[in-house]
Amino acid sequence: MSQQEGLKKIVSHAKEYGFVFQSSEIYDGLAAVYDYGPLGVALKNNIKAYWYKAMVDAHENVVGVDTAIFMHPKTWKASGHVDAFSDPLIDNKDSKKRYRADVLIEEHIAKIESKIKKEVTKAQKRFGDAFDQAQFLQTNGRVVDYQKKITEINSEMKRCLEAEDFTALKQLIEDLGIACPVSGSKNWTDVRQFNLMFDTEIGALADGSSKIYLRPETAQGIFVNFLNVQKTTRQKIPFGIAQIGKAFRNEIVARQFIFRMREFEQMEMQFFVAPGDEMKWYEYWKGYRLKWHKALGFGEEKYRFHDHIKLAHYANAASDIEFEFAIGFKELEGIHSRTDFDLTQHQELSGKKLQYFDNQLNKSYVPYVVETSIGLDRMFLAVLSSALKEQSLEDGSSRVVMQIPAFLAPYKLAVLPLVKKDGLPEKARSILQDLKFDYAVHYDEKDSIGKRYRRQDAIGTPFCLTIDHQSLEDDTCTLRDRDSMTQERLTLQDIQLRLQQKVSISQILKQLEK
Ligand code: GAP
Repeated sequence: MSQQEGLKKIVSHAKEYGFVFQSSEIYDGLAAVYDYGPLGVALKNNIKAYWYKAMVDAHENVVGVDTAIFMHPKTWKASGHVDAFSDPLIDNKDSKKRYRADVLIEEHIAKIESKIKKEVTKAQKRFGDAFDQAQFLQTNGRVVDYQKKITEINSEMKRCLEAEDFTALKQLIEDLGIACPVSGSKNWTDVRQFNLMFDTEIGALADGSSKIYLRPETAQGIFVNFLNVQKTTRQKIPFGIAQIGKAFRNEIVARQFIFRMREFEQMEMQFFVAPGDEMKWYEYWKGYRLKWHKALGFGEEKYRFHDHIKLAHYANAASDIEFEFAIGFKELEGIHSRTDFDLTQHQELSGKKLQYFDNQLNKSYVPYVVETSIGLDRMFLAVLSSALKEQSLEDGSSRVVMQIPAFLAPYKLAVLPLVKKDGLPEKARSILQDLKFDYAVHYDEKDSIGKRYRRQDAIGTPFCLTIDHQSLEDDTCTLRDRDSMTQERLTLQDIQLRLQQKVSISQILKQLEK
């Protein structure tokens, strides 16, 4: 299955079962804007809870905030977004489609990388158990040439971006023979810069002075509140401030479902440290964040770090956690060492001191900041990408199943009366009543039990509880496990225990402490 086919399957499954809809669909939608349906919002809330508990509840020195989307316009001047938050754009004259010049080049590099992958797979088949991948990568002539080409392209792209040499960037696209994926032509415009912030007017006056921006990141709400939070919580450095909230970017490349949206949610944490300590904490947070991802059990091989070639205007080190989505390895989260850039800038433009008096060092300073920043929607896509599976079963049939980690699943349990009569629905509802405030429980009595199991598999419900005639006599029910499809007859008490063990978030959070 091609990457695009893989993504299409996710998009249609997400729509069919009420996870994600195109925004304003009845008006043919709005590009790169999406709505979350009933199951989508449940999954999203569970991801948020996992992030918030791991970042805030698990760390005594991390606290939460919820700051406004609108901020004083000087904020964005100070942060550098007014002057530097732009992408290099290029248009194809035939298709009239607009692209990010660096993304076109990165996609070209990804094609070369997939050629390397193909060579490795071929060699693996040829040499079997004797295959030494590391040695092959270093010595195979074709692979070495591909690697060399990638290094050359990367370094020329880095040079062009850093020097803002857009003539040379266009030349690189032409030299690589990159064609528009839509028209197939190489008829490109010049490359130019395009600011990604949305602006609007505040208040009644529509003159320039009332222009404000929709925040392109949640981080600045944290920076401007740094002292408010530090003073009210009496936190000592090092400490962090975390928040989950909407961000807006007028993205140019917006073709990949909820991977790149114009309105999206971020989960960000700014960790304030003493100058000089930032690299220690940068490594700590890189490690912790990777652990957070790996605890989901999607497979260690699905993650890799990608250290930035081109550092953002505020960073002295930056790395992405990349995840293998259905569309290939892409950025899922960024960990950035942002120096004292933001606080110093806000100090200058606001005229207010944003310093911390360090008792141990007996001096005041502007703290350095290490940031972790993950897109909630992108994380949602990562979960869908890994969880959605088509499985062939032993009896020759097949099923579609979403193997979402139980603690993230929209419903933890489906309560299913075997038949719609003989008092079974009443018994099922009384069980649901007992459980519904502790777990997200779903009731379903329509269709055959087999069809109902399939429906729950398709939405990722980890357990189904079937109530039959014996349940009326001895209070036992059949618990079916989504992944193994095994069924066990258990008492209601045992079922409660099983749920506590298997769907609780605290087990996962404890793993992160090890
Ligand atoms: N405060 C730092 C910051 O915003 P970023 O790398 O631009 O850094 C952080 O964004 C994360 O936000 C990304 O790793 C990604 O997960 C998410 N993100 C960024 N732009 C996005 C978009 N247009 N749609 C969905 N998620 C996005």
